[in-house]
Amino acid sequence: MTTRLGTTITKKIMEEQRQFPKATGDFSGMLYELVVGLKVIAYEVNKAGLMSILGQAGSTNIQGEVQQKLDIFANTTLIHKMDHTGYLCGMASEEVDDIIEIPDRHPQGGKYVLLFDPLDGSSNIDVNVSIGTIFAVYRKISDHPKCTMEDFLQPGTQLLAAGYAVYGSSTMFVYTTGLGVHGFTLDPGVGEFILSHPNMKSPDKGGIYSINEGNSINWDAKTHKVVEHFKANDKTDGRPYSGRYIGSLVADFHRNLLKGGIFMYPPDKKSPNGKLRLMYEAIPLAFIAEQAGGMAIDATGRRILEIPPKELHQRTSLYIGSRQDVETVRKLLG
Ligand code: AHG
Ligand code: MN
Ligand code: MN
Repeated sequence: MTTRLGTTITKKIMEEQRQFPKATGDFSGMLYELVVGLKVIAYEVNKAGLMSILGQAGSTNIQGEVQQKLDIFANTTLIHKMDHTGYLCGMASEEVDDIIEIPDRHPQGGKYVLLFDPLDGSSNIDVNVSIGTIFAVYRKISDHPKCTMEDFLQPGTQLLAAGYAVYGSSTMFVYTTGLGVHGFTLDPGVGEFILSHPNMKSPDKGGIYSINEGNSINWDAKTHKVVEHFKANDKTDGRPYSGRYIGSLVADFHRNLLKGGIFMYPPDKKSPNGKLRLMYEAIPLAFIAEQAGGMAIDATGRRILEIPPKELHQRTSLYIGSRQDVETVRKLLG
């Protein structure tokens, strides 16, 4: 009897590399290493309740948010997994104020920069609700031997790859290099990600809207209008939509990608520029959304991928998901 494991992530990355005859293998090597780092985080997340890694670490990050122990674990795991590979010239993380240089004791001259949100949905860690990791990869563009801020502050249109892991009822890895979006499920028995969702496509129109309605007291009139639209009764248009909000962007996005719908984090009186981070939350997910046929804009109707980044931890408003739903919001926001 033969056992068929299916397409592994390794095979898929190799197949994609063959589409670029000049590829040196560095990019593929970088992705393999990253995937191993994500598996380490998944392993730790899965046994979180058994270890003394739940709860707050007693520190805050540059954005004044309380760091959870798992935030720090995921951050350290990715940095240490990636810093000695020679593929990267630097990294940036939600949990680290400045850019992370490759220490001199490790190979220098890496061609890529990696940005990540090591653990997205921190407030859900202690309550066994889905969380994840989000990442983005750019090519180094400066000719300085070490990486510079210029290498990081590139618009999303320059992305080489983006992806995320969701640590949920199973662990999934979803990524794109601009050749479609592919989803893998971790087979815990063999410790391999197996292609379970090839060529993922966002339904053109959804039936779900995702927003933190607890913030509505701080919304402007346009945001109220948008939300009222999705709640209004119009059977011919599939409305009212269902409300679904996990509070982990990555998990909310993943569900809406599969089922169709829109995730919204508008600007409000508390966060006038929006709450989510442009570089390692909005941009990578926008690239994935577009590759799957969806859309992502900010409250001014700008395509997220075209926003010129000004700083590493820049915030943005975000409307992301099924194409027709984001188009509708764009019109309503006028
Ligand atoms: P992080 O845990 O990386 O700081 O991100 C939290 C983000 C995002 O995952 C989620 O969509 C959003 O914060 C939830 O914010 P509210 O609690 O304000 O709804
Ligand atoms: Mn996050
Ligand atoms: Mn985070």
